[in-house]
Amino acid sequence: MKIKVPASSANLGPGFDSIGLAVSLYLTVTVKGAAKEWQIDHQLGDLPHDKHNMIVQTALQVAPQLSHQHLEVSSDIPVTHGLGSSSSAIVAGIELANQLANLKLTKAAMVEIASQIEGHSDNVAPAILGGLVVGTNIDQHFDAVEAPLPPYDFVAYIPAYSLATKKARAVLPRQLDYHSAIHASAVANTLVAALFKQDYSLVSELMEADNFHEQYRAQLVPELMPIRQVGHVYGATTYLSGAGPTVMTMITPDKTVAFIEALRKKGLSDRIEVLHPDRNGVVVDDQ
Ligand code: HSE
Repeated sequence: MKIKVPASSANLGPGFDSIGLAVSLYLTVTVKGAAKEWQIDHQLGDLPHDKHNMIVQTALQVAPQLSHQHLEVSSDIPVTHGLGSSSSAIVAGIELANQLANLKLTKAAMVEIASQIEGHSDNVAPAILGGLVVGTNIDQHFDAVEAPLPPYDFVAYIPAYSLATKKARAVLPRQLDYHSAIHASAVANTLVAALFKQDYSLVSELMEADNFHEQYRAQLVPELMPIRQVGHVYGATTYLSGAGPTVMTMITPDKTVAFIEALRKKGLSDRIEVLHPDRNGVVVDDQ
C-alpha cells in the first residue's frame, strides 16, 4: 500500500492561518509489511528511522493499537521551507492509521484530527482535501470550505536556507490595534470573496495587501520583495508561502519561463519549482 500526500502553500497573503493550497510536490509512504519494531527507511536527513518518526507518532496517536510496520518514505517536499512538510507527515500518519486500523475516517474527520494536532488547518486541510481550502476553528471544531482552483502556475522560489515556523512567528507583533485588525481582516475577507468569484485581477491586488505577517517576515526572507517586483513585470502575484522562506508567485503559464529567466538574471540562483494545484489531496494506492 502507498499513501501519497501533497505539499501545501499556506496564507496566500492575508489568509493567515486560514487559507492553503495543495501543490504538486509529494510525500510518499509505502507500507512494506509487519515488522518486529517500527522501521522507517528514508533518505530525508536526520529524521528518525524508528517509532519516534512523526508519521508513526501521529499514526499511534490516532490508533494506539497499531502493530509495528516497515515503512519506506520518500519526499520531494523541502523540510522547514514553508511548503507544509510536517503537515504532510501528519496527514500521512493519520491516513496510515486509517488504513491499517480500518477506521473508515471521512476526509472531514481527518481534517478535524489533523487540525487539532497542527493547531490550524491551513496546511493540513489542503493536504487532505486537495485544492484551495479556506478554514478556521470555532469552539474546538474545524470548518473547511473548498474554493475554485486558480488557473495559474505557482512558481516556488525555495531559498537554500531553512526557516523554522517558530522563528517566523516570533517576529510577529503580539497585538494589532483594533482599527488595523479590522482593516487586515477586511482585506482577507475581500480576498476570499474574490477567490470564490474567480475575479483574479482583484485576487492579485488583495493577495499582495497582507497586513498580518509578510511585512514582519520580509526581514527574514530578503528575496520576497525583489521577486514580487520582478513578478509585476509579468503581471504575476507573489506571496510568502506559509511561514517562508519559500516565495510563491502565481503566474499565467505562458509567462512562467520568462519570469524564471528574469529571476536568474537578477542573481536569484536557488531552487525553483514550477508547481500546479493538486486536486486530490491524500490518496491511497492499494496495489
Ligand atoms: N500559517 C502558518 C504561518 C503556516 O504562517 O505561520 C505555518 O504553519
